[in-house]
Amino acid sequence: MALAIRFHDQLADRHVSSLREEVLAGFAATPKAIAPKFFYDRRGSELFEAICLQPEYYPTRTEEAILRRAAGEIAELAGPGAELIEFGSGASRKVRLLLEAMRPRRYLGIDISEDFLRASTHRLAADYPWLDVHALCADFCQDLALPRAFRCERPLAFFPGSSIGNFTPAQAQQFLARVYALLPAGGGLLVGVDLVKERATLERAYNDAAGVTAAFNLNLLERIRRELDSDIDPRAFEHRAWFNAAQSRIEMHLVSRQAQEVRIEGRCFRFARGESLHSENSYKYSLASFAALARSVGFDNQAHWVDPARLFSVHYLRRPG
Ligand code: AVI
Repeated sequence: MALAIRFHDQLADRHVSSLREEVLAGFAATPKAIAPKFFYDRRGSELFEAICLQPEYYPTRTEEAILRRAAGEIAELAGPGAELIEFGSGASRKVRLLLEAMRPRRYLGIDISEDFLRASTHRLAADYPWLDVHALCADFCQDLALPRAFRCERPLAFFPGSSIGNFTPAQAQQFLARVYALLPAGGGLLVGVDLVKERATLERAYNDAAGVTAAFNLNLLERIRRELDSDIDPRAFEHRAWFNAAQSRIEMHLVSRQAQEVRIEGRCFRFARGESLHSENSYKYSLASFAALARSVGFDNQAHWVDPARLFSVHYLRRPG
C-alpha cells in the first residue's frame, strides 16, 4: 500500500510575512490588529477542529450535509478525470465526501500549518490507497505555483469552510482572481460561503458555551509568548466576538482586561483597559453578493446549493472558455 505523500514546500524558500514582522506591525497600528492566518499553529489547528464540533458552530456540519447531498452533481460538473486541489485543507475531512463521489486520480492539499498538513495528508493516503496524494505547504494569501502534476486539464479547486469570509471582500476578490489565473478554461472552483442571517445565530457560533472559540482566539497570544521573545500574558485579555451588521461580518477581538504594557522582541506596547486587538473578521454573504463577487473576476456561477434553513451555501464556479 502506497502511504507516501509527495510534499512540496513553498514556505521554506520564499519570502513570507513572518509572525514577528506582522505582530510588531499589528501591535503598533491603530487600532491594533493581527492577521487570522496566525491562529493556525498546531494547537490553533486542533482548537479549530474542536470549534467545528461545537453545537453552536453550524457552518461545518451544514456544509458537510450540503456536500453529502450534492457530491454526485459536483462530480458530474467536474467531469471524469478531474483532479482535486484543496486550499486550506486542515484536517481534510470534507474532501472525503468529494473523493468518494469523484474518484480523482490525484489530490493536492494546500495549508500553512506544516505539521497538520503532513498528518492529514498521510491519513488520506492511508485511507485512499488508489489516490496519488500531494501536499503543498504554502501561504495562499500570497501568489503560489502549483506543482507540475496539477497543471492538468480539469482541475477542481476546493475552498471549503467559508474561509473566504476571513478575507476582506477586496482580498477575497484578489484570491478568486489568483485561483482563476491558476485554472485552465473549464476548470472549476467549489467554494463554501457562510450566509448572512440573524444576529443571535451568528453570535452564538462565535461564543460557544464550552469556551473553545475563546481558547482559539487566546491561543494567538500564547503563540506570541511561545514563539517570540515576549512577556504577554493571555490571562490579561478576554475573547469577544460580535456581528457588525454594517460590514456584514463577525469580528473577533482580544480585549485588554486592564491598562498594561506588553513587551515583544524588545519593543513595548501599551494597552488601555478595554482596548482591543482585532484578530479576525468573518464576512457573511448573500447568494447574490457572492455571485457578483465571483462574476467580477470572470467566473461563471454554474451552480449553488444551500441547506433547507439557508444557513450556508456551496458554489460551483467555472472558468469559461
Ligand atoms: C476558518 N474560518 C472560516 C472560521 C470562521 O468561522 O471564520 C474561523 C473561526 N473563527 C472562530 N471560529 C471559527
